Amino acid sequence: MNDKIPLLIDTDPGVDDALALLLAFDDTNHDVVGLTIAAGNVGLRHTVANALKLCEVAGREVPVYAGSPSPLLHAAPDAAYVHGNDGFGDIDYTPAARSAEAEHAALAILRLSHVHAGKLVLVALGPLTNIALALKLDPTLPARVARFVAMSGAVTGHGNITPSAEFNAYFDPEAAKIVFDAFPQFDLSDWEATVAHGLPHDAVLGWMQSGGEVGRFYEAISRKTREWSADRRGDDWHCADALAMAWVLEPDAAIEVETRPLDIVLEHGPARGATVVDWQRQLGRPDNARILMRYDAARFHARIRRALTP
Ligand code: BDR
Ligand code: CA
Repeated sequence: MNDKIPLLIDTDPGVDDALALLLAFDDTNHDVVGLTIAAGNVGLRHTVANALKLCEVAGREVPVYAGSPSPLLHAAPDAAYVHGNDGFGDIDYTPAARSAEAEHAALAILRLSHVHAGKLVLVALGPLTNIALALKLDPTLPARVARFVAMSGAVTGHGNITPSAEFNAYFDPEAAKIVFDAFPQFDLSDWEATVAHGLPHDAVLGWMQSGGEVGRFYEAISRKTREWSADRRGDDWHCADALAMAWVLEPDAAIEVETRPLDIVLEHGPARGATVVDWQRQLGRPDNARILMRYDAARFHARIRRALTP
């Protein structure tokens, strides 16, 4: 009997998504039961191809389900300037031999939530479009999910894509609103936690170079992003999705978590996509977000090292 924890990952790979997926594949206590693919960092055609390629390089036959090619309501800019035009550093890799499944990502989320009811850990590493669609089709989804973890938001308004908003939240705020309102409680690993848990560029490069094919492939697809990041942000690389995934896989390495009501701004203007945390609990809304504040850096680094040198 398989007593591993079933993990369903909604993702828009993306260089940092790729590292998060390698962490998940490397973990012996979890079983990745599917990858549902969002548009975000780059267009859906690329994010699907990247997910399939990463599975191939990692030697994993995890089913890949394509989701929505666009946000629910309003078009949004991508992050190709960070991840490359194809989302994987434009290294011109040979496409994977395997194709995506025929089933839509939103339907796969619902089906797998029944297959693994009560045990499923659902992780969102990209814009929340697919999960919002699944919730619109079946609002009972949260009842079957044991834990929902999202990489999203900037909890004191220090955004990355705009001064106040984080990329995943900003790309599809309406979807984020639907999802945040639907889950009575969820875990949030935000951009500000990412910045507080940087990865030293030199160390990461060393780990990649001492790995086999996985390390080499990851070094190549992440090179442009790491150079872009080193230019602007200094000695540490900020790998948002990897931190979220580390928390998923090793929850007891979290040192500080705050629980508060969290909402998102939908209005068009400078605050669109900003996550608003009611730190003083002034509005009387229920605490819905468990916000990661501090995570054990040594355990985070050790996990990344292991995943890059399998
Ligand atoms: C998030 O946005 C994307 O560019 C990354 O993949 C990550 O999920 C960070 O804000
Ligand atoms: Ca992502």
